[in-house]
Amino acid sequence: MSLPSDLKSNFPLLSQTVNGHQIIYLDSASSSQKPTVVIEAMNDYYRTINANVHRGAYEIAAQATEAMERARARLATFIGAPSANEIVFTKNATESFNLIARSWGGDNLGPGDVVLISDMEHHANIVPWQILSAEKGFELRWIPLTSDGHLDLSQLDRLLDGVKMVSVTAMSNVLGTLNPIREIADRAHSVGALMAVDGSQYVPHLPTDVVELGADLLCFTGHKMCGPTGIGVLWGRTELLEAMPPFLGGGEMILDVRRDGFTPNELPHKFEAGTPPIAEIIGLGAAVDFLESLGMSNVRQHEIDLTDYALRVLNDRYGEELTIHGPPNASERGGVLSIQYQDVHPHDLSQVLDQRGICVRAGHHCAKPLMRELGVGATARASLYVYNDEADIDALTASLAPAGELFAR
Ligand code: ALA
Repeated sequence: MSLPSDLKSNFPLLSQTVNGHQIIYLDSASSSQKPTVVIEAMNDYYRTINANVHRGAYEIAAQATEAMERARARLATFIGAPSANEIVFTKNATESFNLIARSWGGDNLGPGDVVLISDMEHHANIVPWQILSAEKGFELRWIPLTSDGHLDLSQLDRLLDGVKMVSVTAMSNVLGTLNPIREIADRAHSVGALMAVDGSQYVPHLPTDVVELGADLLCFTGHKMCGPTGIGVLWGRTELLEAMPPFLGGGEMILDVRRDGFTPNELPHKFEAGTPPIAEIIGLGAAVDFLESLGMSNVRQHEIDLTDYALRVLNDRYGEELTIHGPPNASERGGVLSIQYQDVHPHDLSQVLDQRGICVRAGHHCAKPLMRELGVGATARASLYVYNDEADIDALTASLAPAGELFAR
C-alpha cells in the first residue's frame, strides 16, 4: 500500500509560499513538519485539561496524567518495548545520550575501559562520551567507514577488545546509511558489552522493534517524527534502567527526601525530574498515532521509492558534476541526500534553493568527525519524509544548474 497522495494537506505549513514560491520542505532530517492532528492535540490539552501531572487529585489533573501516560504506552508499542515503564521522557536525543553517559557511564567507566562509537556519529553521541572520558579516563574508540559510506566491520573483533559500551547510530544523518545494528549488538553482547543505539533518524522512518534490534538502550527525538520540539525519548531494558542511578535531581524523581538523603522513584519517574513537557508528550503521542495510521512499512517503502527516484534523476542529469555521499542504493539507506555540486559552496547552493522556496540544510550537520573523513567542510543536505513527492525532487533537480551558473568558478 502507498501513502495517500494528498498527504501534504495534513501539514498546514506546507501550503505556505516562501519567496513567492510554494514551499518545498526538504529538511526533515533536521526537523519534520507537524500535521494538524499534532498541533490540535497540544492545543486541546491547553484548552481543556491544562494541569500538572502525577500531583493533583482533581478531575483535569487526572485527565492530564492519563493523557500523558497514554502517550507513553503508545510510544512503547510503537518501538516494541516490553513495558511502558521503559519509556523515559527527555528533552531530545541529545539529553538521552547525556543521561546514558552520566548515569550508566558515571557508574561503570574508568581507566582501562573502552566505549566504541563510529565515524558517522552525530555530536550527540560523541561529545557526552568525550566529556565523561576526560573525567574518568576511559578510551573512546571509533569504527571506521568503507569508501561507499558503510561501517567497516572487518576489524570489529579487534575493536571490541575491552569495550563495555557500543554506541552507534542506526541511520546516519549525513550519509543515510542504515547500519546492521542487530549484528553489531550480537557481537557486542558476545564480549559482555552493552549496545546503545541512536534512533533519531531511524525511528521516524522505519518500523522499529527494540527487541529485534538487539539494543539495550535507544535514543530518539519527537520533532523529527511529526511531533513537537522539546520532547525526546530514552528507551532502556528494565533491569538496566533499574540499575542506573538518577540523572537529574528534583521533584517527581523521588519516593522520599530526608535530611540525610533521598530514595529515588520507580521507573520511569526516577529519570524524569521536575514538571515534564506535558503538552509535548501528548503531541508526540498524537504523532505516533498519525504515523501508525500511515503504517511504518508504507512510510519506509515511500522513502525507498522516492530516494531511488532522487538518486536516479540527479545522477542522470548531473553525472560527475554532482557527488551524493553515502551508499549508492536506496535499499541500503534512508532518504538523506548530502550533495556536493560542482564547486558551489553548500551555503551558496542552499541560498539559491531558498530563493525558489526549497528548504535544505547546509553545513556540517553536527557530524564534524564524519565531515573530516569525507574531506569536506560542509554539504548541502536534502532530506525526505512522508509529505515529499517526485515533484519536490524535480524542483530540487531543476534548481542546481542555476546555482552552478551563479556560483561555480
Ligand atoms: N540532528 C539534526 C540534523 O541532522 C539537527 O540536522
